[in-house]
Amino acid sequence: MSKLAVSVGSVRLKNPVLVASGCFGVGREYGELFDLSLLGGIVTKTVTREPRAGNPAPRLWETPSGMLNSIGLANPGIEVFIEKEIPFLNDVGCAVVVSIAGKVFEDFEELVRRLDPIECIDAIEINVSCPNVKEGGLAFGTSPETVESLVATLRPLTAKPLWVKLTPDATDIALIGRSAVNGGADALCAINTLTGMEIDVGRRVPRIGNIFAGLSGPAIRPVALAKVFTLHSALPDIPIVGIGGISEAGDAIAHMLAGASAVQVGSGIFRSPHLPLEVIRGIAEYCEFFDFAGARDITGALIIEG
Ligand SMILES: Cc1cc2nc3c(=O)[nH]c(=O)nc-3n(C[C@H](O)[C@H](O)[C@H](O)COP(=O)(O)O)c2cc1C
Repeated sequence: MSKLAVSVGSVRLKNPVLVASGCFGVGREYGELFDLSLLGGIVTKTVTREPRAGNPAPRLWETPSGMLNSIGLANPGIEVFIEKEIPFLNDVGCAVVVSIAGKVFEDFEELVRRLDPIECIDAIEINVSCPNVKEGGLAFGTSPETVESLVATLRPLTAKPLWVKLTPDATDIALIGRSAVNGGADALCAINTLTGMEIDVGRRVPRIGNIFAGLSGPAIRPVALAKVFTLHSALPDIPIVGIGGISEAGDAIAHMLAGASAVQVGSGIFRSPHLPLEVIRGIAEYCEFFDFAGARDITGALIIEG
């Protein structure tokens, strides 16, 4: 087995680097720039039961060391996703994780039922952490009871691993993580964006059409590392996928040292499309330099002195 191979529960990845939901589509355009089979995996843009037009413009704003987005889960809906994107994903040659979201439990149930028979899907990521939608996002993801009962409702509908993507906006992320695991989650993904806002003081208007937006990029990395470390400390046997502010290999390694078994690269891809490959290369060099037998040994290898 390659030194870079890792597992997230039962999902085997050729390396620990996935691309994050909403930052890569299904990889069609990036597939013209590099060989997608070099990735550990692709997490698709969140798909919903019905098509969604998304939020009013402007939807993006650059901030110091980060960006705000308020896309609002714009997507063509599950019907078109299965028809148009699954044939493409079938041939990508890396792990495929499909991200889903809904307004009510029945939406999630229907999505899982539709995705369950599709062989090329390795895991389903449950997005209960989008700050840019009125229903089903943070309203679900900040309530331990709702998270547990949603995952418990979905668990019997598929044998595929269920990953639950958590919000940093919850007061106690370990409580939400434990609730997801009690419901039957196989892995926890942390973090989604933080709720943010910017204001044009000259015009006295919000910079974002939806007023609120999700903050991502290097600015959120310290928050993400703290959440990953907190989750790993509270739930040491549960695989964690670290997300947030990865813009070079060292950032991904920091996530792994904090306890992540794998990572997802998000908005850093907008600045540098080849970033996921650079991160994979950097992790390999780190293993070599520091004598790690394999990338999986980096997980949780943080030294806390004193
Ligand atoms: C433009 C944009 C769109 C996003 N869309 C989604 C989405 O559809 N579903 C989701 O779970 N996360 C979405 N995210 C959040 C990312 O997957 C990731 O959790 C977050 O950006 C933090 O990682 P980063 O700092 O590496 O960007 C989106 C992020 C951005 C910047």
